[in-house]
Amino acid sequence: MTADVEFAQPTVLRELAVRAAQLGAQTCLPEFTGGVAVVTKSSDGDLVTAVDVAAERAVRDMVLAERPDDSVLGEELAPHTGSSGLQWVVDPLDGTTNFTRRLPFFATSVAVRNDDGDWLAGAVCAPALGTTWSAARGHGAELETASGRERLPLNLAPSSARLLGTGLSYDAGHRRRQIRELATHLAGFTDMRRFGAAAIDLCLVAQGSLDAFCEDDLALHDWAAGALIAEEAGAQVLRPTGADPTMTARLR
Ligand code: IPD
Ligand code: CA
Ligand code: CA
Repeated sequence: MTADVEFAQPTVLRELAVRAAQLGAQTCLPEFTGGVAVVTKSSDGDLVTAVDVAAERAVRDMVLAERPDDSVLGEELAPHTGSSGLQWVVDPLDGTTNFTRRLPFFATSVAVRNDDGDWLAGAVCAPALGTTWSAARGHGAELETASGRERLPLNLAPSSARLLGTGLSYDAGHRRRQIRELATHLAGFTDMRRFGAAAIDLCLVAQGSLDAFCEDDLALHDWAAGALIAEEAGAQVLRPTGADPTMTARLR
């Protein structure tokens, strides 16, 4: 294998995705006190803080220090365009509302794709949960906690519970429609969960804690890493398209 090919291997990229997601998450964690100033973006409830921006800068600086020819597309900063054909997609703080309310479901999400649009690696680090989920294309998915690493999905006790994870848009009109459609989505499930961080929701499908997740009106950075992690754990994954904007992941 030439050095160039090895440099773009999914497992090599996964290792950097994990370190970058953990760096972003560790940038957020010390500020998890509920005291950070909050600014409203597109509409009421769509929030951003200085921590979102600082975490994205930390992730981007790490990625570009090691891979200066790659591109980076993040939620909060202007895109960086490189020449390598690989693009990193970053949600520096998924679950900003949770973060500002001292709810522990927030994460940094980092994924990378090639110019064919193939997702090669991704990582989601939820520091207040002490968990990093990651995947490399063709090499499966895993989670890492203080107890070590485990392959996904986890070996959980079978039960008759069938849990659907979902989320609601910041846009009031979309939200009304999503609530009307919820009854249809819930058919076949025994209950639902709404944790407030789409990247984590997708990782919870990957580990088998949720049976499925669906949400529309998400952005690329919300699902980029989580969708690959769910897919590599064996979930059936349908990414949003122009024809159907719903992000769907179903493990069983
Ligand atoms: C949001 C979360 C939430 C989802 C929203 C996203 P943010 O991301 O993932 O669960 O319902 O649509 O925008 O704004 O906290 O990065
Ligand atoms: Ca997000
Ligand atoms: Ca975000």
